[in-house]
Amino acid sequence: MTNISNILIEKLRDATKVAVLTGAGISAESGVPTFRGKDGWWKKHRPEELATHEAFSRDPELVWEWYQYRRDLVLKIEPNPGHYALVEMEKHISEFTMITQNVDGLHRRAGSSAPIELHGNIMLTKCVSCSKDYSNKNHSKENYPDLIKIDPSNIPKCTCGGLLRPGVVWFGEMLPEKAMEDAQRASAQSEVFFSIGTSAIVYPAAYYPLSAKNNGAYLVEINIDSTPLTPDCDLFLQGKSGDIIPEIVNEVWD
Ligand code: OAD
Repeated sequence: MTNISNILIEKLRDATKVAVLTGAGISAESGVPTFRGKDGWWKKHRPEELATHEAFSRDPELVWEWYQYRRDLVLKIEPNPGHYALVEMEKHISEFTMITQNVDGLHRRAGSSAPIELHGNIMLTKCVSCSKDYSNKNHSKENYPDLIKIDPSNIPKCTCGGLLRPGVVWFGEMLPEKAMEDAQRASAQSEVFFSIGTSAIVYPAAYYPLSAKNNGAYLVEINIDSTPLTPDCDLFLQGKSGDIIPEIVNEVWD
């Protein structure tokens, strides 16, 4: 049982504006590897080999092999109690903003109403040249369309001749402008801000908890380990998000 402070319980009972930032850690208990953990993606590969425009230009087959592998993985797994507890929290807070760096779509599948997907969604597909969208917008597991099952050795082309690429944000690319604006506004206005399962080092996401704190929010971090953000937090809850978020929700609203 985690020691959830009375201050947090009272703040959440009174709060009308809450924002949450999640990272790969919240999906770890569903079976998605993190990026920087012991078995994380970036322990085996270098980001610039797989997650940049240059990598795709150099070796699109290798890049698609990685993304198609991750798509297949995401389809085999389910959201976990951490994702579901955030859906429950949303029901009690009038202005609740879910911001995620994850591309796995698990918040959406769990039932979060409008997650801001800062880094895109791994199920989206677009043209590398003209950005024409080739996605089926229904991300549910049942609706995963054959159309976007990419054979890396035979990558489909857009009508303009460009290769199709995953609809995620690569290193060196701009994040979607509206997503950034909405995330920034919600963070600055929040009364309570949660940073959950993220190493809090990739910008601009890493800036949102600090912006919340600078504007008076009560800043809470949930993580199995401390991060560079931990010293700035009002409350650090150490442990698995799949345990701690349900405990908070049960404590505050049951
Ligand atoms: P990281 O892999 O950097 O960090 C994952 C965090 O989750 C770490 O701080 C872990 O300690 C924590 N963690 C692991 N399991 C957990 C659990 N069960 N409960 C709570 N915390 C847990 O992943 P991100 O912070 O999401 O970007 O990485 C940010 C971005 O860097 C990603 O979106 C991706 C990556 O490169 C792009 O690809 C553009």
